[in-house]
Amino acid sequence: MNEIAQELNKQILSENPYTYAVLSDLGKQLYFPKGILTQSAEATQYAHRFNATIGIATEKGQPMYLPVIHDTLTQYEPKDLYQYAPPGGKVELRNIWGERLLEQNPSMNGKVYGLPIITNALTHGLSIIADMFVDPGDPLILPDKLWENYNLIFDVRRGANLLTFPFYDGNGKINTSGMRESLLAQKEYGKAILLLNFPNNPTGYTPDEQEAAEIVKVIREVAEEGINLIVIHDDAYFGLFYEDSIQESLFGRIANLHPRVLAVKVDGPTKEEYVWGFRVGFLTFAAENEIILKALENKVLGIIRGTLSSGSHPSQTFVLQALKSPDYLAQKQEKYDILKQRALKVKEILNNNKYQDAWDYYPFNSGYFMCLKLKKTDAERLRQHLLERYGVGIIALGNGDIRIAFSCVEEENIQELFDLIYQGVKDLEMA
Ligand SMILES: Cc1ncc(COP(=O)(O)O)c(C=O)c1O
Repeated sequence: MNEIAQELNKQILSENPYTYAVLSDLGKQLYFPKGILTQSAEATQYAHRFNATIGIATEKGQPMYLPVIHDTLTQYEPKDLYQYAPPGGKVELRNIWGERLLEQNPSMNGKVYGLPIITNALTHGLSIIADMFVDPGDPLILPDKLWENYNLIFDVRRGANLLTFPFYDGNGKINTSGMRESLLAQKEYGKAILLLNFPNNPTGYTPDEQEAAEIVKVIREVAEEGINLIVIHDDAYFGLFYEDSIQESLFGRIANLHPRVLAVKVDGPTKEEYVWGFRVGFLTFAAENEIILKALENKVLGIIRGTLSSGSHPSQTFVLQALKSPDYLAQKQEKYDILKQRALKVKEILNNNKYQDAWDYYPFNSGYFMCLKLKKTDAERLRQHLLERYGVGIIALGNGDIRIAFSCVEEENIQELFDLIYQGVKDLEMA
């Protein structure tokens, strides 16, 4: 094994043996080489006269560029577009995102966590975590209402054993006792990965205070039973809380909860700032101290260096500029208000008894989506019928559920959308 990897492992082991124990074989092998990038970073700091270290071309003290590209981007400095971003991302953006996390998640106050590391959006962040912590057969515990790509990221790529528990209990609340049972069943295995995604895709649900407290209690109990836990917070839809749920990520409450619990936050502007195609995201660890945080960060940098090498610099610059803009908060609020109005409209319409014979709706209070539970209709048949007959697109999930993205439907069209879905159900009943 590489010497630097051994040193990182030694640091992690001596600071927290449980975190060491949950590293996958690949996670143990990872390190960030002291190669060209380190030397170049040093040169950027100290080579005042000539810096001939990094693989870009320069002209007149600026990165070289083609005017056909640059003329459309004249607002930006060439240095913020063309040269490589560091593997961990632009430091200013990392700092700003870190400050924002603290502002938006009061429970992170006083917790020990690292500077967010920039990823190529959330899917990439999740796959890094899978590489670092999942060995074949490791149990991944998650609710049965889930983002389908977890299968590829954790199971297909890394061989995780996906174990789901029903998302809701009989009262439309989060089924924390199912979560507890699934986790405690891993006692003999000694390791589990818990994936929490709130606001949830596909249900649009985020826990309330009581449910959040129960989740924290379950995680503490599972750790006290001797199970090493990686708790992944997929906060893709963070901030879009419309009702009485908690208004922050559970990451702050799980961070530093117990030495056997390693909390990781995966988030980014993809959905929050409506920049899906930019491919910028963040990965934030909570751990005991700076030594272990740095060692984990270096492992992440190793995997970024060995896959992407570094993320897209222009995208990071665009996001940074937006976050620093004096108009940012007002514009963000405006979009939040639009989505909230749509969510409330959906609820108002669904509370109308006229759909009672066709479906129930699952509780929702946040995010981009909500789900209907069809009473008699096959979801896939309905999906195809709506598409063919009415030109209406919805997502058919398993078990008679359909997902509706109100994020994509104007408020004034929501009534018509549900009327058409209802009509589709009736058509199929008569067929
Ligand atoms: C729950 C959830 N997590 C992560 C992602 C991935 O986001 P990104 O586009 O930033 O990779 C999505 C995208 O649909 C999602 O719904």
